[in-house]
Amino acid sequence: EDYELGEFDDYMRKEIAEQPEAVRRALRGRLDERFATARLGGLGMDARELRAIRRVKFLGCGSAYYAGQLGAALVEQLARVPSDAEPASEFRYRNPVVESDTLYIAVSQSGETLDTLAAVSELKRKGGNVLGAVNVVGSAIGRECGRGMFLHAGPEVAVASTKALTNMSVSFAMLAVVLGRVRDLSTMDGSRIVNGLRELPDKIDETLAREAEIAEVAARFAAARNMFFIGRVRGWPVAREGAQKLKEISYVHAEAYQASELKHGPLALIDPDMPSVVIVPDDELLAKNVSTIEQIKARGGPVIAVTNAELPDGLADAVLRCPRTEPELDPILLTIPLQLLAYHVAAALGRDIDKPRNLAKSVTVE
Ligand code: AGP
Repeated sequence: EDYELGEFDDYMRKEIAEQPEAVRRALRGRLDERFATARLGGLGMDARELRAIRRVKFLGCGSAYYAGQLGAALVEQLARVPSDAEPASEFRYRNPVVESDTLYIAVSQSGETLDTLAAVSELKRKGGNVLGAVNVVGSAIGRECGRGMFLHAGPEVAVASTKALTNMSVSFAMLAVVLGRVRDLSTMDGSRIVNGLRELPDKIDETLAREAEIAEVAARFAAARNMFFIGRVRGWPVAREGAQKLKEISYVHAEAYQASELKHGPLALIDPDMPSVVIVPDDELLAKNVSTIEQIKARGGPVIAVTNAELPDGLADAVLRCPRTEPELDPILLTIPLQLLAYHVAAALGRDIDKPRNLAKSVTVE
């Protein structure tokens, strides 16, 4: 281990706590107030090259894939450039069509994940324009891509990734602003996001300050053997990441579902023993998410709402709160209470939090 635990019992808890500082590092020197944009010199692309990009595809494994999904949503919202994310692990096996005007982004904390590295090699073989979003400087993926965005999260030891993922999302928000500002994103909206990013570390701090409430909710629900994580649009990658974190360290079966898909099957599973964690951003879909909670409650399912909105009293059985930010940045903040929820469920169950069974920090085999 290259850094000390200090006051913390384990690295995951330490790394959760380090997020405000990690985000400050990722933002340092990169926010450009004057031109309402960000500066990502590592991309090595000028305005003309940035404008020529017709599509952005994020490739990563596990949580890095979910962070890519969150990034794709940011790119579409802010730059109006079609964007999606795909698990890097499947990419090379499906003989992908590689387009010259697509920007491919290989996302990896360790920079050593074999599947992601193989996707990069496949892309390069086919002439794809690929850059890296990696945390470890000098890592294989960083070297293979040769350019991109360093995440500046600092060393991450716990198998369950937290601060690196947050810095991925923050970096993708900056990328989305960069791509947006050479297209239709107005100065006003560019400034709004730049300011929102600057305020993010303090808001993460505010969210972390609610840890005791989250731990109490975790203790109440730790006996559940199954949990749903439900999200809609901005909440969907958040739900996927929340479910991933819970299963990874607590071994509780967690399944993420898109809110609108519930009625097409999984609603049949709702009963008093199946709690649902519902992600409720304070955005234009608030009423829809409130109605999702009502539908789950009507079938006897307990609900934990994770929100930055004011919800009607008594709507959910438990509420995990974080502050408001710009709607596009909501998913970044809404992910934080889910890290703590997973952490405290795992702690209540006495799990080995930093080294969950069957998992490695970086997966360098197939
Ligand atoms: C995250 O909590 C997981 N341990 C896992 O999904 C991880 O994100 C994935 O294996 C990718 O790792 P990387 O970012 O180092 O490539």
